[in-house]
Amino acid sequence: MNNESNKILYINSCVRDNSRTDRLAKALLKKIGDEYTELNLDELNLEPLNRERLEYRTKLIEMKNYEDKIFEYAKQFSNAETIVIAAPYWDESYPAILKIYLENIYVMGIVTDYEMDGTPKGLCSAKKLYYVTTAGGPYNPKYSYEHIKNLAVNMFGIQNTELIYVENLDISGNDAETLLKNAIESINGTYS
Ligand SMILES: Cc1cc2nc3c(=O)[nH]c(=O)nc-3n(C[C@H](O)[C@H](O)[C@H](O)COP(=O)(O)O)c2cc1C
Repeated sequence: MNNESNKILYINSCVRDNSRTDRLAKALLKKIGDEYTELNLDELNLEPLNRERLEYRTKLIEMKNYEDKIFEYAKQFSNAETIVIAAPYWDESYPAILKIYLENIYVMGIVTDYEMDGTPKGLCSAKKLYYVTTAGGPYNPKYSYEHIKNLAVNMFGIQNTELIYVENLDISGNDAETLLKNAIESINGTYS
């Protein structure tokens, strides 16, 4: 289900048809609540911060003018109560489209700020962030989950994070569908 509820925000960076990571994330979503807002990053036409966009955004932030459309996704992220990120394991990390999203939402004054002494202060409402991934080989969280967790806890103020993953799906001899099925069943008992 996909309504405009702010409660659960599903950030989907999966681009393959019948993505395994998306299927795993959907099993989690089914367990934690049927109503969620899905952001399909592949459909948003997000752009990285080039010189022009960075200068434009910096000026607005300096003026504390957060009404511009450029801040739409940052506000949505900041207001969500639960966040689910689905990202396949790509190049030991995650798809670039997710990094572009993070660049877009990482806005001083909306998702994070600094105390007078320079300590980061998270401004996000979410109580929990889930990171869901699947990997073709062995999964190393260093440049994906660990990075997102560091941002969530230290910058965004989201203290509770959880990793859900299935690995070795593309190793020859492994039955990817059975591995995925077991993981989905261990989340919510239903396989689809
Ligand atoms: C562009 C690309 C890069 C990948 N890089 C890795 C990698 O570094 N390590 C790995 O174990 N698997 C890698 N894989 C395999 C995927 O992690 C694996 O097939 C995963 O289950 C795909 O998820 P999806 O079905 O949600 O797209 C890569 C796949 C693609 C398409």
